[in-house]
Amino acid sequence: MNAATPAEALAHAINGSSWLYPAANVVHVLGFVLVAGPLIAFDLRLLGVTRAGDIRDLARTTLPWSLVGFGIALPAGLILFGSDSAALLTNPAFRLKLLLLVLAAANAAALHASGALKALLPGTTVPLRPRLHAAASILLWVGVLVCGRMIAYV
Ligand code: HEM
Repeated sequence: MNAATPAEALAHAINGSSWLYPAANVVHVLGFVLVAGPLIAFDLRLLGVTRAGDIRDLARTTLPWSLVGFGIALPAGLILFGSDSAALLTNPAFRLKLLLLVLAAANAAALHASGALKALLPGTTVPLRPRLHAAASILLWVGVLVCGRMIAYV
């Protein structure tokens, strides 16, 4: 079949494979788990839901895994997107998911830029601003999950 555009050629290649899309979807979900798992564990510590461990140590040991997860979820997501890009661009769940992804990244960047984490001494109460960022982070990543799952149903 002669594809009219590169997007159609890519979709043809992805959809013509019996394993590529399901494999990309599995890797995508694994990426999400590695992004959201450590982040939400850290956010629950900032909110005082969990109290064990020094927050700065927790940041050092958990947050790098979220970056690894992002590096895994992104390319896999692009493969999923390539399977039907024209339809996905008009899918409200997909659009909202991308918006929530941008807001989640901006929220994390604002928290780190605030310097509030570096100023946190062991045993001190976490100020309001990092707690607000933590609450927003949990809501945004749960939103990414819900929208990601709803893409196939909208
Ligand atoms: C890097 C951060 C990302 C995270 C954490 C993430 C997370 C998720 C999650 C949790 C799902 C639901 C998976 C399922 O239940 O099957 C999903 C689905 C999906 N994601 Fe992402 N995503 C990310 C980036 C992207 C990007 C950049 C794209 C494309 C440009 C994308 C395209 C898709 C598509 C098309 C689906 C629907 C898959 C299906 O239902 O078969 N994702 N995503």
